[in-house]
Amino acid sequence: MKKQNRRSFLQFLGRAGVGIGASAFLVNIQACSPNEKSKTPTTDVKKPRPFPLKDIQHSLEDKLVLTNGLEYDILIKWNDPISETDQFGFNNDYLAFVPFDKNNPNDGMLWVNHEYFQELFISGSDYEDKSKKTKEIIDIEMYSVGGSLVRIRKNNAGKWEVVLNDEHNRRLTAKTEIPFHWNDPIQGSTSAIGTFANCSGGVTPWGTILTCEENYDMFYGETDHSDPKKPFRNLDGDYYGWSQHYDYPPEHYGWVVEVNPLTGEAKKLVALGRCAHECATVHETKDGRLVVYSGDDSNDECLYKFISNEPKNLKDGKLYVANTTEGKWISLDYNEQEILRQNFANQTEVLIRLREAAKLVGGTPLNRPEDIEIDPITGHVLVALTNNKPKGDYLGEILKIVETDLEDKTSLTFLASTFLAGGEDTGFACPDNMAFDPKGNLWFTSDISGSSINSGPYLPFGNNGLFMIPSWGDQKGKVIQIASAPIDAEFTGPFFAPDGETLFLSVQHPGERSKDLENLSSHWPEGGSAQPKPSVVCISGQGLKDLMQGEF
Ligand code: FEO
Ligand code: CA
Ligand code: CA
Ligand code: CA
Repeated sequence: MKKQNRRSFLQFLGRAGVGIGASAFLVNIQACSPNEKSKTPTTDVKKPRPFPLKDIQHSLEDKLVLTNGLEYDILIKWNDPISETDQFGFNNDYLAFVPFDKNNPNDGMLWVNHEYFQELFISGSDYEDKSKKTKEIIDIEMYSVGGSLVRIRKNNAGKWEVVLNDEHNRRLTAKTEIPFHWNDPIQGSTSAIGTFANCSGGVTPWGTILTCEENYDMFYGETDHSDPKKPFRNLDGDYYGWSQHYDYPPEHYGWVVEVNPLTGEAKKLVALGRCAHECATVHETKDGRLVVYSGDDSNDECLYKFISNEPKNLKDGKLYVANTTEGKWISLDYNEQEILRQNFANQTEVLIRLREAAKLVGGTPLNRPEDIEIDPITGHVLVALTNNKPKGDYLGEILKIVETDLEDKTSLTFLASTFLAGGEDTGFACPDNMAFDPKGNLWFTSDISGSSINSGPYLPFGNNGLFMIPSWGDQKGKVIQIASAPIDAEFTGPFFAPDGETLFLSVQHPGERSKDLENLSSHWPEGGSAQPKPSVVCISGQGLKDLMQGEF
C-alpha cells in the first residue's frame, strides 16, 4: 500500500480543519445576533420535518440498544490483529478519526485510547495477591494499554473497515519510550517508558492527537509529599503491582501526550501539567495561538486552561486553574505567584505537582471534571462534572463556562453556570464524554460506575447510555436517549466522521463485574457463552443521514 503523503495530509488539515472548529463558530456568531440564537443559521425557508431520532427507554439488557433508524457494526474488538505483529488493546476509550486527504474523508487513521485492563480477562485471574504476578503476565498487561493507530476506510458496501496490515497500523503501549517535550529532565530522565491510563483526548489544528493519562497511579503508584522531608511512593487504592518488576517513577505519567497519527511519534507535553487528565480540548485563536482546556477527573479536583505564546507550540505558554466561584483563571506561573515560590523549587516542580499548586493559588475543587467540548454555535465551553459522591452529588451536571472573550478564549475572566443537571427529569446521570456533530448538536455519554448501575440513586437510569441534545428546531434543548450500553459497560470516545453520517463509539468494560470466567455478567458482543470484549462500533443509518440534512 502506498504510504500517504504527509504534506497533502497536513495541507488538508490546515484548510479543512478536523470536524467542526473555529470557522463554523465564526459563521454562526455572525449569523446570530445576541437575541437570535435560536434561529437556524440559514436563510432558506424549508418546511419543518419531524425530528428523526426518538428517545428510547432505559434498558438493563446485555445489548447495545439503539433508537429506530440507527444500526451499528463492530469495527474492531480487543485482541483483534491490526498487523502481523500487533493486536488491538483493551478497554478502548477516546477515538479520533483523521482523514488522509480532504478529497476522501472516508479513508484515514483512527486513534484509539486503551485506558486500562481487567486482569480476569487478560490472564483468567483477578490477582487479589499482586505478588503472584509474574513478569511475563505484567508484560502482557503492559501491551494491553496505551493506544492503537489503525487505518480505516469505507468499503464498496458503505461500511467502515479496518485496513488490516496497513503500514500505518501500530501500537503505543506501556513499553513505548516517549520523550518529554520540556527543557529540563523529569525525575532525572528526558523520556518515559510507556503511556497508559489513556482516557479521553483531543485533536490539534495540525492533525495530531492528544491522548490523556488519567488514573496513572494504578500502574506505578504516586509520590506522597505530605511529609515534605520524606516523600514516599504510595501504592494505596487500585494498583496493578507493576513496580515489583518495573520500577518507573510515578512522575513520568499523568501527562497529555501528543501523537502523530501517521508515524506514531509521540511526546509528553509537560507544559500542560500533570494530574489525572481526562481530556485536552484545543481551541485556536484568530492569530493561531492555542487554548487547551483539561479537567483533572477526581473528586474535588480542578479545571485547567493552557494558553500558548505562539502558534503550533504546546511547550511555551502559561497554565491557569479555574476559580469558578469568582470566574477567574489563576496563573500557575512560578514567577508570578509568591506562594508557588515558597512551596516548590521551580516551574517544573509546579507542573509535576499540579494538584497541590492549583489548591495553593485558589483553584476551585470540582465534582470530577471529565470531558470538555466547545459549542460551535454559542462558543460556550461545556465541562462534564460526573459526580462527587462524598459531597452528595450522585447525578452530576454539565457546567457551562462563558469566557469574557467568547471568540478567542484567552481572557482570564468568565461566567460559570449549570448548563444541564443529571436527574429523573432530564433522564440521565453522570455525564462524561461529549461530542458535537457537524450540525452543532451535542451528544454525550453517561458513566454510572458498574457497581452502582440499577441501585440506589441510579435505579431510574438503567444501563449507561448515549444521549443527544438537538441545537435546532422544536426538539431544541431536549435530552434524547439514543442508545443503551450492554451490561456493566460504558460508552466512551464518541467521534463523528467528517460527513456526520457515522458516529464512532467505544464500548468499554462490558462484563466488568464478572466474578470469574464461569460467571460472566456480559457476553457482549459475541453472545452465547463468549467472554465480553471491549469494542469500537460504527453507528450509522437513515436517522443520522436525516439529521445531517438540516432543519427540523
Ligand atoms: Fe477515564 Fe474520567 O474517565
Ligand atoms: Ca472518561
Ligand atoms: Ca469529547
Ligand atoms: Ca469516566
